[in-house]
Formats: sequence, structure tokens, C-alpha cells
Amino acid sequence: MKSEQTNPFIEKYSKLALEQGMIDNELYSKYEVKRGLRDISGKGVLVGLTEISEIVSYVIEDGDLVPCEGKLYYRGVNIEDIVKGFLDEDRFGFEEVCFLLLFGHLPNSAELNEWNVLLAENTALPEHFVRDTIMNTPSRDMMNSLAKSVLTLYAYDDNPDDISIENVIRQSVRLIAQFPLLAVYGYQSFAHYHDNKSLVIHTPQKGLSIAENILYMLRSDSKYTKLEAQILDIALALHAEHGGGNNSTFTNHVVTSSHTDTYSAVVASLGSLKGPRHGGANIKVVQMFSDMKKKISNWNDDGEITAYLEKLLDKKEFDHSGLIYGMGHAVYSLSDPRALIFRRFVRHLAAEKGRNDEYMLYSKVEALAPQVIGNKRKIYKGVSANVDFYSGFVYNMMDLPEELFTPLFAIARIAGWSAHRIEELVNAGKIIRPAYKSVTKVQPYIPVKDRD
Ligand code: COA
Repeated sequence: MKSEQTNPFIEKYSKLALEQGMIDNELYSKYEVKRGLRDISGKGVLVGLTEISEIVSYVIEDGDLVPCEGKLYYRGVNIEDIVKGFLDEDRFGFEEVCFLLLFGHLPNSAELNEWNVLLAENTALPEHFVRDTIMNTPSRDMMNSLAKSVLTLYAYDDNPDDISIENVIRQSVRLIAQFPLLAVYGYQSFAHYHDNKSLVIHTPQKGLSIAENILYMLRSDSKYTKLEAQILDIALALHAEHGGGNNSTFTNHVVTSSHTDTYSAVVASLGSLKGPRHGGANIKVVQMFSDMKKKISNWNDDGEITAYLEKLLDKKEFDHSGLIYGMGHAVYSLSDPRALIFRRFVRHLAAEKGRNDEYMLYSKVEALAPQVIGNKRKIYKGVSANVDFYSGFVYNMMDLPEELFTPLFAIARIAGWSAHRIEELVNAGKIIRPAYKSVTKVQPYIPVKDRD
């Protein structure tokens, strides 16, 4: 039987759709369209105000934008200080970050304790949810599985459409607490039904952090090292929020502005995050490196590495997309602070896992790629390693399945999406509705009998 892709009708009319769909590139300049809602320097079009986070990637000197080392602030607190703060106190930090993003201040110890208890109380999924929803029609894609679960949770909510702030916070707390279960159980179900592995469903433990519970639920023996849990916790803290303009958060603003329910808004964000140019990049990084490791004989040879990177850009290697995954960012220029923070811990983990050689290869690519991209592409603001460059490697060293890489991002980012949804609702402005200029020609309607 022929698949739909090879159906002659689909084939013929797909070509037509492609030709018809092409808009003359010059028209974008003529009408000054800000493609990707960004100007030529990469700066985003201003579409909103936020107090949730701030990304700094340039300074203004004598009226000119000058690229600088990247900085990220959650509610005004530097992410570097946040990570250092919870590590110095030898505790997990992702829960604290969620509180900070949602409520605007760092919790004191009583607030933090109450918050941790509230999250633990909200972890339990509705009765039979795992059997009836997650294990029913298990998807090969965990983001799809996560989205299905979130949409189904709507049906279990007695008050799903109420967009009062109190109700949205109630729903957000539940989603933050339940995302780890939805993602991990979705994977376990996939591994069982599609990969013939034993079905493992561990119940999360009260008293463990979200990072610890992810590892506890995922591994059949529930064991993990302190360093593993700590690095996963840092990864969650670093991925929790990134301004209102990133694709999935902006999607949340767009959808929330129509005053739809929380579940629909979160599912829209999940759909955006899944894309390889957004949250899906970390899988691509690991796959790209596994291709590179096979094709480069000497991992210390800068010349050989450079030649491979050039071939990537010329669409002659890996997935032929012309991209070096894990490099570049829509906002950051000289550096992504999350990548720099992460890199320090990656080295320790690589030593613990006996994978120093690979760590060195990653370091070399990190150093060589900006130059190679600069030689082959027009760079306006600089290119450097982004957070996904190392996150995929870290998850891989922890033996976390690739299918869960993007869901782990979602487990973290649900905090940022929730904070932005609340901000959009509190400041309820207009429904978001930008303009598309029509450049089509007017044509008459012709009766079928008179058409060629
Ligand atoms: N590989 C190849 N080319 C790259 C690149 C990369 N990693 N990063 C940037 N470039 C190219 C861009 O495509 C652009 O060329 P073009 O004008 O011919 O399209 C040029 O360099 C300037 O890019 P810039 O303005 O700095 O970034 P952008 O906003 O166009 O793209 C990304 C940002 C994230 C989409 C891009 O860097 C990318 O695709 N990176 C790889 C995927 C990835 O790691 N995504 C995760 C982001 S956190």
C-alpha cells in the first residue's frame, strides 16, 4: 500500500503549494517586515513589558548597541547568584526558583517549606490517570504524550475555565508538581509498549526534590548519585525562564490573551518547545556529536574538527540542515550565561563518568564553531554556545533517554510559562493580533466549467 506521502495527488499538489507559497524575498524589505519579529541586528520587536526576567546581551555605548557577555536575571536576581546561593547552602534550588518566578521574591525558610509541602501534596495524578491516559495509545514522542496528558487533565478539573488569578495559580502549582510524573511515566509507557522494556512506574517520594524524584522514578533501581541530582536540579533552574519573547513563552502570551484555559495555553507552549530550533535542539546536539565522533579520527586535531564543522554548515554532514546545533542564540551574542554555569559542572560529571575525552571534544567545538560560522554566515551580533550545547551531553552522561531531553526542558519551563500567563492575565491588555500585509493579486471567481 502506498503511503500518503507517495500519493500522486499529494505529491503533485505539494509541489504546487510550495511554488505558490513562495513570497518574493524583496517584498519583506520593501514593506519593512520584521521577520521572526526581529530587526536586522537580531533585537526583538518590543511587544510587551515584563517583571519576570531580564536578558542582557548588549550595552549601549555612544548610542550604539555593543554586544556583551550575556546575563540573566530572574525577578531581578542574577541567575549566577541564585545557583551559587543554593549550592553554597547545599540544597536543591529548582523549587525556590519556581516560587521566585511565580510570586516575585525569594522565599524565606518558612515560605520555602510551605511551598515544598504544597508541591508534594499536588503531585498525585487523578485516579487511574496513568492507566487510562498515559498508557493508552502511548506516543513515540514524549512531548506529544505530555501534551495529551495536559489536555486530558482539563477533564479532571472541576473548574478548568476560570481564569481568576487564584484559580490559575492553583492549576499552575498542580502542573509544576505533576509535569515530572507525566513526562517520566509517558517515557516508561513508551519504553514498555514500543521498546519491549519492563514497565517501571515508581511513585515519587515525599521529601525528595523534583530533580531527585525524576531520577527516582526513571531508574528501575531508583538509585542516583548526589552529583547527578544536583546537576539535574541546576539544569532545571537554568531552563525555568527566559523572558517573554522566547517562542514557547510568547506562544503562551498569545494564547492566554484570548482568555482560554490554562491547559490549552500550556499545550500550545509544549507544541512550540518541541521544535528543533527551540527546546528540541539538545537532542540534535547529542546526535550531531555522535555523528562527529564517528567521522573525526583524531578528537584533538583542530583542523579535522574545523573541516567537519564546515561540512555541517555546507549541509554535507549530519542532518544536512546547515546548522551547528547548540551554537548561536536569538538574543545572546558573546555568551549565554546558562551555558557558562553549566559547563563548570559538566567537567565534574565527565570526570565521574570517565568521559573526559568527549568533554574535551565539546570544548574544542565550542571554541572553534563561532569562527567557522562567522566565516560562512553573515553575523550581526556574535555567536556562542547556548544552554543546549551542554545539556544534551549532561543528560546523555546520566543515561537519561533522549526521548526525555525536551520534556525535561518543559518540566523546568512550565514555571516560566505559568508566571507569564499570570502576568498576561493580571495586565489584561488586548488580544494579541499583529498584522500580515497581503501581497496577493485580486482575481475573479470563475465557474468550474470555464476553468482551464
Ligand atoms: N549554525 C549555523 N548557522 C548559524 C548558527 C548555527 N548554530 N547560529 C547562527 N547561524 C547563522 C544564522 O542562520 C544566520 O544566518 P542567515 O542570516 O543566513 O540565516 C546568522 O548565522 C546570524 O544568526 P543570528 O542572527 O546570530 O541568530 P538567529 O536568530 O538567526 O538564529 C538560532 C538563532 C538559535 C535559531 C540559531 O543560532 C540556530 O539555529 N542555532 C542552532 C540550533 C540551536 O542550538 N537552537 C537552540 C537555541 S537555545
